[in-house]
Amino acid sequence: MALYSEKVMDHFRNPRNVGVLEDANGIGEVGNAKCGDIMKMYLKIEDDIVKDVKFETFGCGSAIASSSMATELIKGKPVSEARQLTNKAVAEALDGLPDYKMHCSVLAQEAIESALKDYESRQEKKEEK
Ligand code: FES
Repeated sequence: MALYSEKVMDHFRNPRNVGVLEDANGIGEVGNAKCGDIMKMYLKIEDDIVKDVKFETFGCGSAIASSSMATELIKGKPVSEARQLTNKAVAEALDGLPDYKMHCSVLAQEAIESALKDYESRQEKKEEK
């Protein structure tokens, strides 16, 4: 059996939603100290819906494929659904990752969580004003 599924290879070679979102209102950046990979997630949320999402990943192929798939899974979805995205769901949508690469999907989950936290704190600040 090939080490990586066709879906992993596809999202690695043709990652969806790569880049910077200039008008993002939620930005999260996370890293894994062991492998040194870094992932940055940009969210544009309107009316509680993830209208747009982009990412920049400095990392391994599985991290790139995981970020790409994660963006596809939350794009157009309500914030409440995006919040529930797990690394397992990302890995499953990719038809699996090798055990020692599961942490790459964790990075995608954490990047989205971090961007959502940033969005929420911006909202709170707006309300305070
Ligand atoms: Fe660390 Fe892939 S090897 S995120």
